[in-house]
Amino acid sequence: MEITYKNTSALSLIFTFILFISSLNLSFSTTICNTNDKNVLLGIKSQFNNASVFTTWDPITDCCKNWSGIECNSNGRVTMLAVSDTNDVIGEIPTSVVNLPFLQFFTFAVFPGVSGTIPPAIAKLTNLVHLDFSLDSLTGPIPDFLGQLKNLDVIDLSGNRFTGQIPASLGRLTKLRSANLGSNQLSGPIPASLGMIKSLEQLYIYINNLSDPIPASLAQLPKLNELPLFQNQLTGSIPESFGSFKNPALNIDLSSNNLSGPIPSSFGKAKITALVLSKNKFSGDASFLFGKDKTVLTTMDLSNNIFKFGFSNVDLSPGLKNLDISHNMIFGSLPEKLGQLPLQRLDVSFNQLCGQIPTGRRLKQFSPTKFSNNTCLCGLPLPACT
Ligand SMILES: *[C@@H]1O[C@H](CO)[C@@H](O)[C@H](O)[C@H]1NC(C)=O
Ligand SMILES: *[C@@H]1O[C@H](CO)[C@@H](O)[C@H](O)[C@H]1NC(C)=O
Ligand SMILES: *[C@@H]1O[C@H](CO)[C@@H](O)[C@H](O)[C@H]1NC(C)=O
Ligand SMILES: *[C@@H]1O[C@H](CO)[C@@H](O)[C@H](O)[C@H]1NC(C)=O
Ligand SMILES: *[C@@H]1O[C@H](CO)[C@@H](O)[C@H](O)[C@H]1NC(C)=O
Repeated sequence: MEITYKNTSALSLIFTFILFISSLNLSFSTTICNTNDKNVLLGIKSQFNNASVFTTWDPITDCCKNWSGIECNSNGRVTMLAVSDTNDVIGEIPTSVVNLPFLQFFTFAVFPGVSGTIPPAIAKLTNLVHLDFSLDSLTGPIPDFLGQLKNLDVIDLSGNRFTGQIPASLGRLTKLRSANLGSNQLSGPIPASLGMIKSLEQLYIYINNLSDPIPASLAQLPKLNELPLFQNQLTGSIPESFGSFKNPALNIDLSSNNLSGPIPSSFGKAKITALVLSKNKFSGDASFLFGKDKTVLTTMDLSNNIFKFGFSNVDLSPGLKNLDISHNMIFGSLPEKLGQLPLQRLDVSFNQLCGQIPTGRRLKQFSPTKFSNNTCLCGLPLPACT
């Protein structure tokens, strides 16, 4: 094709005009939304009495272009149904979603009026990569059949009232990166099978009623960076295997459980960014959790346990910003190096510490209560040593 730029301005004007017309055509007359999918969505709208979140779901517009929370593939098949956050959506999870065979993203969340159980129909949505029922009012078990959704990347069932055990079948979700089962009423053990999900980066199971020891298999998760297990009734200590965590950044929160006994010394080898062990019954020595080589460690909370070790010679990690060792049986004096750390939060109260608080600007900024109730700590911000 040999179109020169001479004397083509009229031609190009016409050409542009044609393009313009055809684009108008596209948006006005060519709907791409698949009719079956559209009818399924209109059924859901009517099932929930045209709740406000469905206002844009107008039968005369294109569901793929004009409906909020809906996305389609190039063939007009619905791939996303994501609605959330109103009080007027009242009822159960709509089972008719099974008639959206191309659905990949399903968010039906922050609906306090959505109750009942997770319907078995969900198991048929095998293309799902993202399932979010967080902050609804769902009850019953976390069903076994969720283990059939092999393409899941993210599952969020947090903030409901699910009961029963975490199904071992979730270990079959080998593409999962993030699982949030927090703030429910789940009981029984954390299934060891979760250690098979090599892709797992975040495992949130905080605020439940989980019991038994933490499974050693979790240390086999090479990408894990968030492990909040706080507020459960987990027993035992930290598994020996946790020393083998090689992850470059790992936040572990085991606070408010029934964990007890000494921490295995192998755990000193793990690369941890934040470790929160407060409100348990851990005992013995924890000084090996610190160290010059622990360069990524920024938060250490050992508070409200029965740890008993000398603090004078602890080799404090240079990056510590938050340090809480309060309410233990820690003895000795505060290491000189404490005054040089970039501390934002510090609490050493209610221990058996003694001697002069390291001098310098940093430590005297903290409230005296953060040093109080020790055997004989003295110096600013406490009264001078005598
Ligand atoms: C709900 O919306 C549909 C269109 O989506 C409309 O036909 C119907 O009359 C509405 N129903 C109520 C009760 O408003
Ligand atoms: C539907 O969406 C298309 C593309 O975003 C837009 O051009 C059109 O004006 C919308 N139609 C209505 C009725 O909102
Ligand atoms: C939590 O678990 C304990 C022991 O497993 C049980 O006795 C208790 O009833 C459970 N509480 C709730 C709220 O499920
Ligand atoms: C956990 O500790 C609490 C308080 O000490 C106790 O009431 C509860 O029975 C313990 N639960 C388990 C599962 O050991
Ligand atoms: C903690 O120390 C403060 C200030 O010295 C004192 O008033 C308080 O009684 C102590 N509390 C306990 C429980 O020992």
